[in-house]
Order: sequence, then structure tokens, then C-alpha cells
Amino acid sequence: MGGCGAKMKIVVLTGAGVSAESGLGTFRDTNGLWTQYDLEDVATPQGFARDPALVHDFYNARRRNCISAAPNAAHEALVGLEKSKQHDLILVTQNVDDLHERAGSTGVIHMHGALMGALCASCDARWDAPAEMAADAPCPTCAAPATRPDIVWFGEIPYHMDDIMTHLEACDLFVAIGTSGTVYPAAGFVDLAGQAGADTLEINPEPTGGGFDQVIAGPASTAVPAWVDSLI
Ligand code: APR
Repeated sequence: MGGCGAKMKIVVLTGAGVSAESGLGTFRDTNGLWTQYDLEDVATPQGFARDPALVHDFYNARRRNCISAAPNAAHEALVGLEKSKQHDLILVTQNVDDLHERAGSTGVIHMHGALMGALCASCDARWDAPAEMAADAPCPTCAAPATRPDIVWFGEIPYHMDDIMTHLEACDLFVAIGTSGTVYPAAGFVDLAGQAGADTLEINPEPTGGGFDQVIAGPASTAVPAWVDSLI
């Protein structure tokens, strides 16, 4: 898959499945987060305007889970791929947890924001989120009680899209790990990379049938280390 030993530019896109074996819930699997909460209430600007305390409760609970979780072998294998320097790795994640960083990945592109980030809904200031965020907490810059998690909600524009598109158009290999491929624009990355000439690979225990050249059907904690070992 993708070159025989030649240095490749590899774009990896991760989704909730890469953190599933670290104990963090996915969204659309059985008992996924969107089966427990109505995403309209906790993952839209309208929901936040309607009930900011509910939104903070939801993200405070996810932040607590994240803090108590640990990276798994999939996160660690991606660190090994980066540190091997045998290929240029661009790691894009839809996840808002910090398990990639805690495993040692650097330059992680969080297109949907980060649980550990705080944003002022009034002046756009950003700062490190406290473990527990409250809606009436004053913004450290403008003092408005408009604190929100720095998370991209449905209806908002994902972050770093220009950089991501540039990488997709120039990569030799695009790998989607642990994502259902149901939320755009991330779900369209495989097509953009393929059209630009990249090979495409999906790693997922339940392949999505999303038009990948190759599929490795398995859980991330074993399939990702095996894939990385085949590359370095
Ligand atoms: N290893 C790898 N993949 C797994 C594992 C595992 N152990 N367990 C489950 N998966 C796969 C599932 O088969 C599914 O394809 O992870 C995927 C999880 O899909 P979703 O729950 O839809 O998560 P994701 O694709 O990341 O959602 C995308 O939707 O709600 C928004 O912003 C949110 O970033 C999220 C986006």
C-alpha cells in the first residue's frame, strides 16, 4: 500500500474510534454519545444559547472522562510513525480529546476544536480550559460571562480547513482511522485525496464502504500498530 519504501506524505484522519479502546465513547456506535444526548441540545450554538449550563455539564463530563483516560496502542503507534521520520505524517483529528498529544504526537490538527480549550463567545479570546467550565465564568480578556468550550459545533466552520485541503492535495497516502465517515467536511477527505492521486486506506472494525482503495477491518489498538509496522 502506497510506495515501496519511498518517503511518503501521509495524511491520517482519526475519529472517535481511535479513542474507543481508551474508554472514551464514540458518537454513533451502540450507546454512543448521540444515543444518550440530543446533539441539538449540546453540540450546536442554538443549544448553547438555550441552556449553557447543560452544554457545560456535557463537556465537563467529557473532559473528566478524557483526563482519566489514557492513550492506547493506536495513539502510540502514530507517535512511532511520526518519530521514525521515515515518512512525513500530517495527523488530522476530528476528536476533541488530547490523547494524541498525551501519547506524544506533535502538530495535531484539531479540526473540531479541543476539550482542553476555552473560547469567549463574546470576544473570541482563547485560553486553556479549566477542568470544570461554567457558563457565567468571566472571559479573562473581556470579562464577559460568555465562556464556552473551544469546540466546533454543528453548523460552525471546522478549523484549519485551508491547511488540511493543501495536505490532502499533496499527499501520497490518506488513512482514515476510526471514523464513520458521516460528518462533512471530514467525510469527503477520502474523495479529495483520491482525486489528487493518493492511495486511500480505512482502518475500522466496521468498514464504512466509503470508497477506500484498501480496508483493514480491525480495532485501532491492534490494526494501527500492525499497519505502522508494515511502513517503518
Ligand atoms: N477501533 C477503530 N474504530 C472503531 C473502534 C475501534 N476500537 N470502535 C468503533 N470504531 C469505529 C466505528 O466503527 C465507527 O465507524 O469508530 C467510528 C465512530 O464513528 P462516530 O461515532 O460517528 O465518530 P466520528 O466518525 O469520529 O464522528 C465524526 O461527528 O458528532 C460529530 O464532531 C463529532 O467528530 C465527531 C464527528
